[in-house]
Amino acid sequence: MIAFLCYNYYRKECGKVKKKVFSSLILMMFLFFIVGCDVKKENVTPNESTKSGPSVVVYFSATGTTKTVAERIAKASNSEIIEIIPKEKYTSADLDYNSDCRANREQNDSKSRPLIENTIDISKYDTIYLGYPIWWGTIPKIILTLIDTYDFTGKTIIPFCTSGGSGISGSVDDLRKYNSNLIINDGKRFSLSDSDEVIREFVGVNMNEEVKNIKAFINGKEYIINLEDNETAKKFIEFLPLELNMSELNGNEKYANLDKTLPENSANPGRINAGDVMLYGDDCLVIFYKSFDTTYSYTKIGHIDNLPDLGNGSVNVKFEN
Ligand SMILES: Cc1cc2nc3c(=O)[nH]c(=O)nc-3n(C[C@H](O)[C@H](O)[C@H](O)COP(=O)(O)O)c2cc1C
Repeated sequence: MIAFLCYNYYRKECGKVKKKVFSSLILMMFLFFIVGCDVKKENVTPNESTKSGPSVVVYFSATGTTKTVAERIAKASNSEIIEIIPKEKYTSADLDYNSDCRANREQNDSKSRPLIENTIDISKYDTIYLGYPIWWGTIPKIILTLIDTYDFTGKTIIPFCTSGGSGISGSVDDLRKYNSNLIINDGKRFSLSDSDEVIREFVGVNMNEEVKNIKAFINGKEYIINLEDNETAKKFIEFLPLELNMSELNGNEKYANLDKTLPENSANPGRINAGDVMLYGDDCLVIFYKSFDTTYSYTKIGHIDNLPDLGNGSVNVKFEN
């Protein structure tokens, strides 16, 4: 069934691509003879654009898939999030694309602009992550309503989509054709199974530059862990939020075994400093609360300044971004 659907989408999109290639050729020949070789305009490539300034995720989602991705992108990029709510909600009958359903009729009607229920104030944002499901290889018509209604001048649109398999490029081409003034980059299609790493890469969060410290709540009291610039610290961030019950050992450390391993690059530091957060082996997390000389090897994850003596017994530690 899925293969059949994909095949149908593929056939439809191939048809479109052929048509697009053909019409593009005609258009290029026309421009060549009438305007001459004005390559200057072609060099203005909006694809280079990346996130800058305040950002917002604006998305339409009929059945919740794009919504889930939108929320993850908003979190990773530290953006506000606004849902495009259709005035007339889409029922499952409206989305039954094997029938003459409302969604199909809208997609086949070049004049269709489904109304949006809510106000979507994009005025204070420089970057707009624009999310939608792919409908018949392209953007749902409600996205055109959005483009028609609001002023995108000077704003960078970073599109993203979910789909049953189709890529995003056809929809982005169509957006560019619809309004050539839009500054819109190539965007990306997401699946629900995409990792946080994939999302972070999309929003351009560079771990080394952006995440330099995290929080640790030790028995409820907040401390800052200044992270090392290494693979172990980067991977550890992916485990967050994380809550551990850390056991006492030797009157100088609290430790807990993680249920996943971290990249290990251990070496003997010579001296342990109170506040050091270390990895022992590849899965044992240690917070030292006393300074002393050591013959053991660790991979350093970070350091907590001014960590007091944590005393006897185990501690509850919540690590957060
Ligand atoms: C009317 C309609 C047309 C669709 N067309 C395509 C398509 O061309 N290619 C594709 O891969 N998926 C297509 N899909 C599947 C959706 O893109 C996919 O289920 C998407 O993740 C739904 O996102 P949402 O839950 O945010 O609405 C279509 C779905 C509907 C309802």
